[in-house]
Amino acid sequence: MTPIELLTDWMDDEKSAGAAYAQHAVLSSQALNGSAHGRVVAIREMTAAGILFFTQARTRKVAEMQQNPRVSLTFWLERRTREVMVEGEASFLTPEQNAHYWASYPQWAQLRFCSYAPTSGEPIEDKRMLEEKRLALQQTYQDQPLPCSPDYCGVTIKPQRFVFYQYRSDELSDVWEYVVAGDGFQQQRLSP
Ligand SMILES: Cc1cc2nc3c(=O)[nH]c(=O)nc-3n(C[C@H](O)[C@H](O)[C@H](O)COP(=O)(O)O)c2cc1C
Repeated sequence: MTPIELLTDWMDDEKSAGAAYAQHAVLSSQALNGSAHGRVVAIREMTAAGILFFTQARTRKVAEMQQNPRVSLTFWLERRTREVMVEGEASFLTPEQNAHYWASYPQWAQLRFCSYAPTSGEPIEDKRMLEEKRLALQQTYQDQPLPCSPDYCGVTIKPQRFVFYQYRSDELSDVWEYVVAGDGFQQQRLSP
C-alpha cells in the first residue's frame, strides 16, 4: 500500500468504527510573525497528487501558506487510537479547478459559503447580518446554483513525509515513517 492508500484505509476504518469526522485534520502552518498556528480543516479528497481541502481566500492560513507553503496535517483517529502526521508543500488550485469543485457543491453549501467568506476572520457585531445576507442570496438565486465565489480557495498538500502511529496498550506502539524517495516512498519503522 502507498501511504495515501494506508491513510485512506485508516480513515475508512475509523468511519466504520462510528467516527463522524474522521476526514478532519489539524493543519499547521507558520504564522506571518514566525509563531506556530494550527486549525481544523475538512479533507475533501486524497489522491497520489495530494491531499485537498477548501478554505476562504481571506483567512489567515492562505496568507501564511503563500508566505511559507511548508505545512503539516495531523489526523487523530480516536476510535482506533491512531495518529497520522503528514508534512508537505501546499499549492493553490487554479480558478478553473475551484469552479469545477464549486459546481459539485449543493446550493445550501454555496449559500452558506457566500454569506460568510467575504468577512472571514473579521470582527462582526452580530451573526444576524450574515444570516440576513444568506437569506437575501437565497431570495436572489431561488433554486439556481450560485456563481463560484472569488473567495473559494482549494489547497493541495503534496506529502513529503508521513508518520503512522498505532497506539497500543497490550504491547508497545507501532510507528512507521514514509519519506519521499524518487517516484515513491521509503518506509521504515520508528521507535515509539
Ligand atoms: C469541524 C470543523 C471543520 C472545519 N473545516 C474547515 C475547512 O474545511 N476549511 C477551513 O478553512 N476552515 C475550516 N474550519 C474552520 C477552521 O478551523 C478555522 O477556524 C478557520 O478556517 C480560520 O482559520 P485561520 O484563521 O487559521 O485561517 C473548520 C472548523 C471545524 C470546527
